[in-house]
Amino acid sequence: MQFDWKPLPAVHHEWRRPLRWLHGALALTISLQMFTSLIMSPPFHHHTSAFGLAVFSLHQYLGLIAAAVVMLHWLWMPFDRQRLFSHLFPWGEEGRRDIVDDLRTLARWRFPASDDRGGLAGLVHGLGLLAATGAGLTGVLLYLLAGSNPAPALLFYLVVQLHSLCGNLIWGYLAGHVLLAVVHHLIGQPTLKRMFSL
Ligand code: HEM
Ligand code: HEM
Repeated sequence: MQFDWKPLPAVHHEWRRPLRWLHGALALTISLQMFTSLIMSPPFHHHTSAFGLAVFSLHQYLGLIAAAVVMLHWLWMPFDRQRLFSHLFPWGEEGRRDIVDDLRTLARWRFPASDDRGGLAGLVHGLGLLAATGAGLTGVLLYLLAGSNPAPALLFYLVVQLHSLCGNLIWGYLAGHVLLAVVHHLIGQPTLKRMFSL
């Protein structure tokens, strides 16, 4: 079977400026968090170094900013006239129908149209936002727990595990998200330009 790279005709669709800025801040802060997590060493690990501790400090404070950005993204949703909420969480009847349509289109080896409705892309974006929200909430909780004396060890352990789980989900999401954004760009869809224009 041959893959038809041509996407279905794109319905003109713009992301509004506040959302483009919010997404830019989200992409930057979350990506930095993921990167710092690879080279940091928290004080409670066996092998720490001055560099690892400094990067961990950065992870903590930048993490608080990342969590605030995620929170702002949620707060923006009710004001977004493009029905952002139903784009990201297309769980209603109409949304589920759009997802099935997109899966059928993919089964015919074509890319689904890129338009206002959420469909499969919206569903995946929503799951990515949920993973980022989980990492932000557990990160803030870790920050608060680290400040309490003595920190409840079991709770701390459980929150670290949840934080790690969210981190792993974000790795999976980020890899697919960036890859698909680049593929869309290469086949001539203005997806990247639409999201990253000022
Ligand atoms: C881990 C960090 C990221 C998260 C959590 C994330 C999340 C999202 C979400 C939720 C949307 C839907 C719009 C919105 O609600 O803001 C979206 C759209 C988009 N993202 Fe990301 N994103 C991230 C990083 C990136 C990066 C690094 C790129 C660059 C390649 C990128 C490219 C795009 C594009 C092009 C769209 C628009 C897709 C379309 O028009 O259908 N994102 N992203
Ligand atoms: C949205 C923001 C954040 C993201 C995306 C994020 C992401 C990550 C990732 C991917 C890891 C590595 C997990 C692993 O290797 O298993 C990690 C570890 C960690 N993060 Fe965050 N983080 C965020 C915010 C924060 C904040 C605000 C704190 C505040 C203290 C924090 C504290 C920690 C700690 C203590 C660890 C080490 C856990 C361990 O391996 O023992 N994070 N984070």
